[in-house]
Amino acid sequence: MGKKVTVVGAGFYGSTTAQRLAEYDVFETVVLTDIIEGKPEGLALDLNQSRSIEGFETKVVGATTGVDGSGYEAIAGSDIVVITAGLPRKPGMSRMDLLGVNAKIVRGVAEQVAKHAPNAVVIVVSNPLDEMTALAQIATQFPKNRVIGQAGMLDTARFTHFVAEELNVPVGSVKTLTLGSHGDTMVPVPSRCTVDGKPLSDLLPADKIEELVTRTRNGGAEVVALLKTGSAYYAPSAAAARMAKAVAEDSGEVMPVCAWVDGEYGISGVYLGVEAEIGATGARRVVITDLTESELAGLNEAAEAVRAKQADVAGL
Ligand SMILES: NC(=O)c1ccc[n+]([C@@H]2O[C@H](COP(=O)([O-])OP(=O)(O)OC[C@H]3O[C@@H](n4cnc5c(N)ncnc54)[C@H](O)[C@@H]3O)[C@@H](O)[C@H]2O)c1
Repeated sequence: MGKKVTVVGAGFYGSTTAQRLAEYDVFETVVLTDIIEGKPEGLALDLNQSRSIEGFETKVVGATTGVDGSGYEAIAGSDIVVITAGLPRKPGMSRMDLLGVNAKIVRGVAEQVAKHAPNAVVIVVSNPLDEMTALAQIATQFPKNRVIGQAGMLDTARFTHFVAEELNVPVGSVKTLTLGSHGDTMVPVPSRCTVDGKPLSDLLPADKIEELVTRTRNGGAEVVALLKTGSAYYAPSAAAARMAKAVAEDSGEVMPVCAWVDGEYGISGVYLGVEAEIGATGARRVVITDLTESELAGLNEAAEAVRAKQADVAGL
């Protein structure tokens, strides 16, 4: 039987994710939901009308849901649920400023997901990402491997773009990596960055690499400052959709994601940005990569920073 994927939240992130998922043409159904009456149905109708032009057979279903759980029958039996519901940042806001309001939203959504799609792999994107991923696991009570968050794919893609621009080389020749939290303790990993297989440190001076690392760490805020009314969605939706595709195809692709860490790198009991093998069960396993001493110290620092906040979300 064909796969069913649900995207909760039909804002900028959710609607572009639904579009990408539909255009892959690998799912039988893409369900898009929101609490704004008519919005998901309208977007679904619009997307379905693009099928003959873009050449995909996937059906998009829109469903308005209530905070009381009404309308959630539409997501029944989903193989994958992407949670994008929640407020985005405005200029000057940090992701942590969204904690209280988005925790309420994500908890409510996650409880309905557990009820109606009990076997789904959940991909969380709502911010603050590491905390919302931890909260979704607590609220669904799903095994930890079945709840993952999207951040590292995006942060890595931003780093890759900045390196490609700086060196004026095709983006396909650049490989970068970003671990840690989706915030101030993000850990770009220059030792894993290459251009056509050559170490980045052979091609750029250390201060230039540091400049690109800083721009990557502030990559979301840079877009928010320009847009003024919301946050990025093209690159973020590309990242979440690729994760969902890897789950649907059980591909085993290794991706930087927010996953439960249980002893890897000597770190335990926390959702953290690491590389993981993604398949039908979610994060099949965390993949450990060689890090320099300072990168490992950065990862430990990120783990401690998010651990304290993730412990707090249980009460939100
Ligand atoms: N992880 C990342 O890398 C990353 C990147 C960009 C944005 N984000 C986050 O993604 C989230 C969504 O961003 P956006 O740009 O789409 O915002 P948006 O305001 O365009 O859309 C959010 C949507 O969620 C809906 N919503 C609110 N409560 C809901 C509920 N209980 N059930 C269903 N839908 C509900 C709203 O009606 C709205 O349509 C934000 O929290 C943002 O910070 C994360």
